[in-house]
Amino acid sequence: MAPWAHLALASVFTPLLLASPVPDESESTHSHKRAAEGYDSPPYYPTPPGGWVPDWSEAYSKAHDLVSNMTLAEKVNLTTGTGFFMGPCVGQTGSVPRLGIPNLCLQDSPLGIRNSDHNTAFPPGITVGATFNKDLMYERGVALGEEARGKGVNVLLGPSVGALGRKPRGGRNWEGFGADPTLQALGGAQTVKGMQSTGAIAAIKHYIGNEQEMHRMSSIVTKGYSSNIDDRTLHELYLWPFAEGVRAGVGSLMTAYSDVNSSSCSQSSKLLNGILKDELGFQGFVMTDWLGHYSGVASAIAGLDMSMPGDGAVPLFGDSYWGSELSRSVLNGSVPVDRLNDMVQRIVATWYKYGQDKDYPLPNFSTNTQDKEGPLYPGALFSPSGVVNQFVDVTSNHNITARAVAREAITLLKNDMDILPLHSDDSLKVFGTDAGRNPDGLNSCADQGCNKGVLTMGWGSGTARLPYLITPQEAISSIAKNAEFHITDKFPSGVTVSPDDIALVFISADSGENFITVEGNPGDRTKAGLNAWHDGDELVKAAAEKFSNVVVIVHTVGPILMEEWIELKSVKAVVVAHLPGQEAGNSLTDVIFGDYSPSGHMPYTIPRSEDDYPDSVDLISQPFGQIQDTYTEGLYIDYRHFIKANLTPRYAFGHGLSYTTFNFSQPSLSTKTPLDSAYPAARPTKLPTPSYNTSIPDASEVAWSSAKFTRIWRYLYPYLDKPESITATKKYAYPEGYSTEPHEVPRAGGGEGGNPALFETVFSVQLEVRNTGKRTGKAVAQLYVELPSSLGLDTPALQLRQFEKTKELAPGQSETVTLHLTRKDVSVWDVVVQDWKAPVNGEGIKIWVGNSVADLPVLCVVGGKCSVQ
Ligand SMILES: *[C@@H]1O[C@H](CO)[C@@H](O)[C@H](O)[C@H]1NC(C)=O
Ligand SMILES: *[C@@H]1O[C@H](CO)[C@@H](O)[C@H](O)[C@H]1NC(C)=O
Ligand SMILES: *[C@@H]1O[C@H](CO)[C@@H](O)[C@H](O)[C@H]1NC(C)=O
Ligand SMILES: *[C@@H]1O[C@H](CO)[C@@H](O)[C@H](O)[C@H]1NC(C)=O
Ligand SMILES: *[C@@H]1O[C@H](CO)[C@@H](O)[C@H](O)[C@H]1NC(C)=O
Ligand SMILES: *[C@@H]1O[C@H](CO)[C@@H](O)[C@H](O)[C@H]1NC(C)=O
Ligand SMILES: *[C@@H]1O[C@H](CO)[C@@H](O)[C@H](O)[C@H]1NC(C)=O
Ligand SMILES: *[C@@H]1O[C@H](CO)[C@@H](O)[C@H](O)[C@H]1NC(C)=O
Repeated sequence: MAPWAHLALASVFTPLLLASPVPDESESTHSHKRAAEGYDSPPYYPTPPGGWVPDWSEAYSKAHDLVSNMTLAEKVNLTTGTGFFMGPCVGQTGSVPRLGIPNLCLQDSPLGIRNSDHNTAFPPGITVGATFNKDLMYERGVALGEEARGKGVNVLLGPSVGALGRKPRGGRNWEGFGADPTLQALGGAQTVKGMQSTGAIAAIKHYIGNEQEMHRMSSIVTKGYSSNIDDRTLHELYLWPFAEGVRAGVGSLMTAYSDVNSSSCSQSSKLLNGILKDELGFQGFVMTDWLGHYSGVASAIAGLDMSMPGDGAVPLFGDSYWGSELSRSVLNGSVPVDRLNDMVQRIVATWYKYGQDKDYPLPNFSTNTQDKEGPLYPGALFSPSGVVNQFVDVTSNHNITARAVAREAITLLKNDMDILPLHSDDSLKVFGTDAGRNPDGLNSCADQGCNKGVLTMGWGSGTARLPYLITPQEAISSIAKNAEFHITDKFPSGVTVSPDDIALVFISADSGENFITVEGNPGDRTKAGLNAWHDGDELVKAAAEKFSNVVVIVHTVGPILMEEWIELKSVKAVVVAHLPGQEAGNSLTDVIFGDYSPSGHMPYTIPRSEDDYPDSVDLISQPFGQIQDTYTEGLYIDYRHFIKANLTPRYAFGHGLSYTTFNFSQPSLSTKTPLDSAYPAARPTKLPTPSYNTSIPDASEVAWSSAKFTRIWRYLYPYLDKPESITATKKYAYPEGYSTEPHEVPRAGGGEGGNPALFETVFSVQLEVRNTGKRTGKAVAQLYVELPSSLGLDTPALQLRQFEKTKELAPGQSETVTLHLTRKDVSVWDVVVQDWKAPVNGEGIKIWVGNSVADLPVLCVVGGKCSVQ
């Protein structure tokens, strides 16, 4: 085993050592000077305290009992991480031993427990999205939660619903569920509900506009980029999945490193106080991304609740913007006591809400080492040692779910002459390193930072170690009687070819997080572009020249170009297996040998050319200053853009074939809650929130002399020397627009996710789905809305708003599928009124249902009839 943490240290520190301290932006939170023309972030103060949503009342009431009894040191402890590498998890808060609150353990990743052992490496979000199966999305969430709980992880850092996939080359799109807000939202919300049903707290991320990896963080000469997003685009695209996550009860949220409208996400009062905590009614706590904390007072008053991993601008120096400095900011009167109380009660209420006060395990693994014993606080350099890894097996039977997700995601794009499924006695010639093992060994690349062997996931912090891996080669050889393997990316010479041969060609495309560069790609696909890696196109073409039957199998993080070979006569089938996780081989053979029909659908568009995308979604790089990344394409990303620009993609969003055929018939539309007004009913008023003593606490509560333990070097504490000398006589230079008077409540708010009236079902579409083919299979009914021009706004022609997957249907069997639409699903964001606006009585709304955005046989016109074309 590698010595503890060295790999992690090396990889994490490369960017950090280059990073210079980011200035405390306390006075420049709303720097108009820097902002791109027309894009600035209006002030929104104060932070609305949590506790006004009925569902959370009990948790807040318990939290109130505890928090009102806490000392200043205890409160500050819960808001601030103990420092980089200062405990078993990737981050942990301080503790409150007196009241039975342990250090809360925060750990990556959205697809499994990172840097651990005896864990499941599930398929990542993009694969989950491709299943279009809400039950599986939930089931995987439950399994993730059980593994988190089993390892003692209080907060599992996922799901990721941002990046949304605006940039096809973006490095981390694969961690989310697809390039559409509804797919992303349902994937995220089902994951949150599943995870939190086990008591583990989910952390939805990265809020918001984190669509590119390069330059997301500042360096000596650059500042993290600013995503300049107009209000309507924010609401209708990027915020949508966060709103659904909040509606699902998500306990925590992680901010992005970058800015929106030149205000950093971790200290933007508009984004945190305004949109998240008031309009969306978020009741949990907001944390920074790791080292994405840039100021003390400014971030506190803007609505941040937790600093992770606690360090200030330069990690491992024992400095923090919070910790003892937050104690100081309260004692000197700059951070109102109420704001601190709210931070803490949000954290404690979430802890109660998900039952972590009752028998929640303590961490029994270490993210820092695979050894049994090691330093307890590696970042301290001189640290006591002990048992850090108990190697607890948390996998249970989760491989069944992992395999089901990978299998149901497999998307058949093309299947000429029904070449698939294969037979076990077919003569198979298999090509490509993507079919085999990593020759350097399983998990030999830290954080999966390489593309060797079958591609099971992208790279970076959104990964987990593979407990084992069944490769396609292994799975195929256990079924096929007649398979020959050429685990190479260069077409070998001397391959014998007979007319009945079927060539299976495996190709891949990888991407990941910015702190690792793989084959010249710094997270985003700068060098590889949208092409298959390792000359995959050449391999396919070479095989297509020799063999008359070629099946291409693609493992990919996102869109790839297929134009060089897709129309070749011998390329009979194309299978996109996305990123399958540990069950790569078995899930693939489940489908290609016909035990299951493929039922995955594309969670993004496959273009014909990269030029088909708007220029504004290109990657942006710039040597100095701050990139202004302005979302000029507005609502038109992925298929929304292709339709508007009248471009036929190679494969449309939602496309996916089966071995059988389905017929959609007998559609009917029913009106539920009538849409009798353009705007929803008035929002409910807020319940009163818990109140606290607002006097500045006694300074002795944070005096070093009150601490009764051995101090660990560089560890982050809430304590100060001589705190009694701090006075609240000087006034802090608050940002423009700062106020402590409660803000007028946003009319679009009123519950978790927004005004509850937005989530009333207004229409339901029912239809019968019949298997009209000869094999068993599952169909997906995708529902797209077409909003009328009477709304007076330029709106994408078609927008996915709902989907349902059938159960396994035998030939001739049918299932009645019901798809529900909420008021919000048929609304646009009215930037003037600041509310969601729908066509009165649904006048002119068209509802389409079908197999992909380009194949929609069912049409229901509100107020008219339903028909099948
Ligand atoms: C960003 O600026 C745009 C353009 O002025 C505005 O519509 C939007 O509300 C701003 N968003 C935030 C979060 O500041
Ligand atoms: C603080 O704790 C004490 C002892 O448990 C308890 O009696 C008291 O009610 C608590 N105070 C508050 C304000 O909750
Ligand atoms: C703050 O947390 C540390 C552990 O992270 C603990 O040692 C200390 O006792 C805590 N302080 C208080 C006042 O609870
Ligand atoms: C109070 O302390 C904080 C943290 O050190 C500091 O940023 C702030 O400027 C102080 N306030 C005043 C008015 O000096
Ligand atoms: C470790 O895992 C076991 C089994 O899940 C659990 O009972 C225990 O509380 C955990 N924590 C510690 C510190 O052992
Ligand atoms: C899951 O793992 C168990 C134990 O290794 C194995 O027996 C079982 O076949 C696996 N299940 C699937 C669906 O692969
Ligand atoms: C499919 O459904 C349509 C419309 O309901 C119907 O007219 C047609 O006969 C069906 N086709 C098959 C093969 O069942
Ligand atoms: C509020 O807190 C202050 C400072 O700790 C204390 O002196 C005062 O007695 C408290 N008031 C009440 C009503 O508990």
